[in-house]
Amino acid sequence: MALLEVRNLVKVYPLGESVFGGGAKGEVRAVDDVSLTIEVGETLGIIGESGSGKSTLGRLILRLIEPTSGEITFEGRDLLAAGHSQLRDLRRDMQIIFQDPFGSLDPRMRVAEVIEEPLVIHRYSDAEPIVSQRTRQGRGTRVRVAELLKAVGLDESAMQRFPHEFSGGQRQRIVIARALALRPKFIVADEPVSALDVSVGAQIVNLLAQLQREFGLTYLFISHSMPVVRYLATRIAVMHRGKIVEMGSVQEITENPRHAYTQSLLQATPEIVA
Ligand SMILES: Nc1ncnc2c1ncn2[C@@H]1O[C@H](COP(=O)(O)OP(=O)(O)OP(=O)(O)O)[C@@H](O)[C@H]1O
Ligand SMILES: [Mg+2]
Repeated sequence: MALLEVRNLVKVYPLGESVFGGGAKGEVRAVDDVSLTIEVGETLGIIGESGSGKSTLGRLILRLIEPTSGEITFEGRDLLAAGHSQLRDLRRDMQIIFQDPFGSLDPRMRVAEVIEEPLVIHRYSDAEPIVSQRTRQGRGTRVRVAELLKAVGLDESAMQRFPHEFSGGQRQRIVIARALALRPKFIVADEPVSALDVSVGAQIVNLLAQLQREFGLTYLFISHSMPVVRYLATRIAVMHRGKIVEMGSVQEITENPRHAYTQSLLQATPEIVA
């Protein structure tokens, strides 16, 4: 079953617009007529060089930015037609993890506050028996935060500490715990391990794979590293200048790359690291 469907998605940015009123000097087609489907429980890997449009695509799909044209449906619902309250509901189901675990964590907030924030904002009151109806500092929220920390391999004692007290890999675990707080169905991971050492990155990739099995998650996994994508993805889409130039199973793409750009990517990457 398709969780997400994207049809003819386009995002155009004006280029070189002069602040002195010189007018637009052309445009960048950051995402240029992209269509794709992501099935429930799969990982679609998006690979491509810097500036090929990967992040723009990820943000469009979560409606963090508005497309120039195209269609996006999530569980059959038209995402672009969704109003405020519908979007708010949809946002529980869709989360994003960014590359930089420093930039995405507020240094003044304790880990417990970081993770409970989405629970508080969305007045978390799932049917789960473990969670109470209370929100801020409520016992149910505490229990849920502890549960989330455990899920990402961190100790409960992390709650009272601050992000800077943790290593890059641990901070990314905190970010992941927060992303999981509302039990999302779909996660866009935008180069989540690019800022980390290879061995630490491999641990995070393994964690994401484990969480996917545990919680039945569906991923859009953005990376410029073929070994990482190959390890985690079920299918791979290769982007080049805003377009998907090739898409197929991991086996198809790695064993029989058709596009010259995909071939160069495969030649450029050493064997599996994860
Ligand atoms: N807000 C913006 N305004 C203008 N141009 C933009 C904006 N965001 C992205 N672009 C342009 O769109 C293109 C695609 O950018 P994008 O960030 O999606 O690429 P990317 O594949 O994620 O690159 P990277 O691997 O470096 O993260 C680039 O040419 C970029 O300069
Ligand atoms: Mg990017």
